[in-house]
Amino acid sequence: MSSKNSTSSYGWVAKTFHWGMFFIILGQYWLGGNFKNEAYQGMGLGGYHFSVGLLILFMILLRFTWRAQNPVPEMPDGTSNLQAFAAHGLHMLFYLLLFALPAVGVAIVQAKGGTVSFFGLFSVPRFIEKAESTAELVVSMHGIFAKITLFCILLHIIIALYHHFGKKDNVLRRMLP
Ligand code: HEM
Ligand code: HEM
Repeated sequence: MSSKNSTSSYGWVAKTFHWGMFFIILGQYWLGGNFKNEAYQGMGLGGYHFSVGLLILFMILLRFTWRAQNPVPEMPDGTSNLQAFAAHGLHMLFYLLLFALPAVGVAIVQAKGGTVSFFGLFSVPRFIEKAESTAELVVSMHGIFAKITLFCILLHIIIALYHHFGKKDNVLRRMLP
């Protein structure tokens, strides 16, 4: 299998990003819902939520760079312009959300006066001052972005399954390992 995408299928790099990030993002939702908000230091569940979130931020930047240098597989025959636009739009929205969601997460920790560490290896430089008003704003943004992303994921899965079982085209198969 080729590392690069072709006009008909995804290469192994895009597939590895896709499925690797899928499982990491699932874990990240679990961590987000289960860590105690007070734990802004050390490597408790909160520390893992922040570190994994940073990992997602790095991965989405690499993944976007990779995508920009690859052909995007063509839509199946008979796809309308509107459908193609919607599919492309939802994919681009994922890139935007998976950048904004962790970036806002970093802002929460900094606005609360904490430090974001990447698995204890290094810390993110401070770019937001400690302020309760900022913290309130970014906490609500983080919650809303997390919900919008989850909604998009569910929609994306339903569409993928519809392609495979309803339209019986190769859209799901070309993203599978
Ligand atoms: C794609 C990456 C991320 C996802 C999917 C995600 C998801 C979540 C979810 C579902 C919650 C619970 C929200 C709620 O109870 O309303 C949460 C809370 C939180 N997340 Fe994230 N998160 C991500 C990245 C990050 C990053 C990178 C950081 C910090 C470096 C971070 C910091 C926080 C904090 C501090 C809270 C608690 C907010 C509060 O005070 O209620 N998150 N996250
Ligand atoms: C965290 C969850 C997910 C995210 C963020 C996500 C994101 C994406 C993105 C951005 C693309 C565009 C290709 C690329 O740039 O890599 C894509 C393609 C695709 N995804 Fe997902 N995905 C997720 C989960 C799933 C799941 C669970 C399925 C299967 C049920 C799935 C099926 C597909 C398929 C079939 C394509 C190819 C679409 C096409 O060829 O036009 N995805 N996904």
